[in-house]
Amino acid sequence: MFPFNPASPQSAAIANLFTTIAVVAALIFLIVSGSVLWAAVRFRRRPGAAEPPQSAGNLKLELTWTIIPILLLAVVALLTVRTMSAADPPHDNAGAAAVIVTGHQWWWAVDYPQANVHTANEIHLPAGERVLFALRSADVIHSFWLPTVARKMDMIPGTDHYLWIEVDEPGVYEGACAEFCGAQHAWMRLRLVVQSRPAYDQWLKDQAQIPAVPTTGDSGGGAQLFQTRTCVNCHAIAGTTADAHVGPDLTHFASRTTLAGGVLTNTPEHVARWLADPAAVKPGNHMPNLQLQQDEIRQLVAYLETLQ
Ligand code: CUA
Repeated sequence: MFPFNPASPQSAAIANLFTTIAVVAALIFLIVSGSVLWAAVRFRRRPGAAEPPQSAGNLKLELTWTIIPILLLAVVALLTVRTMSAADPPHDNAGAAAVIVTGHQWWWAVDYPQANVHTANEIHLPAGERVLFALRSADVIHSFWLPTVARKMDMIPGTDHYLWIEVDEPGVYEGACAEFCGAQHAWMRLRLVVQSRPAYDQWLKDQAQIPAVPTTGDSGGGAQLFQTRTCVNCHAIAGTTADAHVGPDLTHFASRTTLAGGVLTNTPEHVARWLADPAAVKPGNHMPNLQLQQDEIRQLVAYLETLQ
């Protein structure tokens, strides 16, 4: 749980600031509540005691309890400014973002423009390298948040925000949208897969491949259905006429571990459930119910499973 397991130098800076302030705040709390308790007991009313001496104003005391908090807050401000630049290093090549993530209601488009790779909801990165992200929105305000990896950053329609992402160790890092963006805000999950350089290169190469279009069997039938039903109005699959970007790019759909913004794991059974009635799985989402027949669903699933 963050802030105890930061995975990048940027999130380590935030975690350090958090722990430092938490420790200082805990000390202040102990000192203040301890003194109050001590005074309450030490000077409690005793039977037969006279009225205690009344005093008003104490310049020395008032100066002390004004100056100490000012100094403490100055230190906190200084540490915060230092953390801000460590957690969000400046970038001068804003035009050359290697990864573009676009928030949609309620999923994430992930594009690698230099590699001509388009995917969704799962970002792959090489370990130990600092990568510049451009963050966008296709509709409303979303917020890009990988808690153990980087600061939160809002995605605002019509403008690009930039963020360095750098993770030391290979692994899977979970994230989510952190700005309320409508009915399925809670199901706008994000997954960062950090790999060794060679494994990442291989992934990128695989993702850039244009999948063969099956022509026979269930998958062949599914490929045809995909073109003739309304799937192509919203989705793209490289190597076919499907080239719309309303919904997630499906070119290598079967290589992803989740679907529908993380609601379901990506298994054939779950894809079938999703196609049969998307609103039953994720109420309010923008995938229409195409009233598919059971055999159409079977064929479409067979086709989608070929998109490795
Ligand atoms: Cu997107 Cu909340």
